[in-house]
Amino acid sequence: MIYQFQANAHAAQAEADCVVVGVYKANELSHAAAQLDTASSGMITQHLDLGDFGGDKNRFSILYQLPGVAAKRVLLVGLGERDKLTVDSLTQASYCAANSLKTTKVKQVISFLTDEASQALANNAVRQSVIAVADTFYSFNEFKSNKDELPAPSLEQWTLAHRGKTQLALATQQGAAIAEGMKLCRDLANSPGNTCTPTYLAKTALTLGHSQANLEVSVLEEDHMAELGMGSFLSVSKGSEEPGKMIILHYKGGPAEAAPVVLVGKGITFDTGGISLKPGAAMDEMKFDMTGAASVLGTLSACVAMQLPLNVIGVLAAAENMPSGNASKPGDIVTSMAGKTIEILNTDAEGRLVLCDALTYVERYQPSAVIDIATLTGACITALGHHISGLLSNNDALADEVLAAGKQANDEAWRLPMGEKYQDQLKSNFADMANIGGPPAGTITAACFLARFTESYPWVHLDIAGTAWKSGAAKGSTGRPVPLLCQWLINRAQ
Ligand code: BES
Ligand code: MN
Ligand code: ZN
Repeated sequence: MIYQFQANAHAAQAEADCVVVGVYKANELSHAAAQLDTASSGMITQHLDLGDFGGDKNRFSILYQLPGVAAKRVLLVGLGERDKLTVDSLTQASYCAANSLKTTKVKQVISFLTDEASQALANNAVRQSVIAVADTFYSFNEFKSNKDELPAPSLEQWTLAHRGKTQLALATQQGAAIAEGMKLCRDLANSPGNTCTPTYLAKTALTLGHSQANLEVSVLEEDHMAELGMGSFLSVSKGSEEPGKMIILHYKGGPAEAAPVVLVGKGITFDTGGISLKPGAAMDEMKFDMTGAASVLGTLSACVAMQLPLNVIGVLAAAENMPSGNASKPGDIVTSMAGKTIEILNTDAEGRLVLCDALTYVERYQPSAVIDIATLTGACITALGHHISGLLSNNDALADEVLAAGKQANDEAWRLPMGEKYQDQLKSNFADMANIGGPPAGTITAACFLARFTESYPWVHLDIAGTAWKSGAAKGSTGRPVPLLCQWLINRAQ
């Protein structure tokens, strides 16, 4: 799909298979709907007067071949109450429009929905509307054999049109870049564990790097990690036949001397729990345990597409967590790259074990900020459910930046506390620390563990266990938190 922006547009003259305009509650016309009404000598008003529609949210109506209107179809979409218009309601309207066109023959759409956004909201509304359309048309059929029988939407081009000279081409392009990044994240996360291995993630990253002049990709193999002393990471990867990989992407969009921001993703391509084996129910969903890493790849690909003037380093800590004759056992003690010893009391708390060595490794870049992204704890789902990601941090200013970006991108996070009292739960009788803190506050103690390895830079931890994928009938990756991460980088680039 191609997304573009058009300024100085008139709804009645828009050349497309379908023109999309908003209608507010009680049949109040948007600017573009009024243009169509005038051009067609009142056909929109006549239609609305029949009373079937009404302008409520999630309602739509398609009119055909209106006199005086260039486009053969007019799609009216409800916007709800005019004085309650928000970015969210415009995004919802774009979802509704995209959904209602999914099964039509429409190829080219010109939408005036975001034209209703105020100047202050327009950039956000445009980015999110593009993402909403892309989300509606996302499908993952890689592993279906009957591809020719699957529905093939005909939509090819979606133009966001606005009155006047407003410049929203950049926001449109950013929306498309973020949507592409989300797609990469989702495709990887939806791929099964027997395809999407650490080696597959490394290949995907290397391919992305080859296509771009200012993106360098390198991969640390297990022997190199052993030389670096990454005993914690290796204690996880050694239980699997699949070799672990530390994948490093270096996007050079800023001046060489500018300190980079670093994104570190948990890339457990399948989490069986190891010797502390998980119960069988829904264990298949542990193929999604590499979504942190996939979101880092998706975000880096969006950075490249947007050519953000920033230096961004992505690190994917990729391994498979398996029970085997080589696997770590409860009670085993390992030494991390930082030199701290860890007693592995539960091999299912493996995410923090691969992340801590990655977080020590990135000290060498003297980063201005580090965000790690991980499907780290089931406890986060208990605390926050599936709507909001957990955020924990050692730096209030950075935490506020990331929380704000999440709000802006409609990809929210909520901060949880940390502190000495929680740190005490990680006490080990035999090593510097245990890898679990007991049942209370599991998300917090997991972050407390990571905090011991992030003291030298401003750091945010995102626990995406509840938000990375959906279960049930609509099982699949959400592409989160790519929108949050991209918005944070866009804001930081300004
Ligand atoms: N990948 C899981 C966390 C998870 C579980 C995410 C379910 C989403 C849904 C993680 O590796 C894990 O197993 N965590 C344990 C930690 C515990 C052993 C301290 C958990 O949450 O049970
Ligand atoms: Mn686990
Ligand atoms: Zn895990």
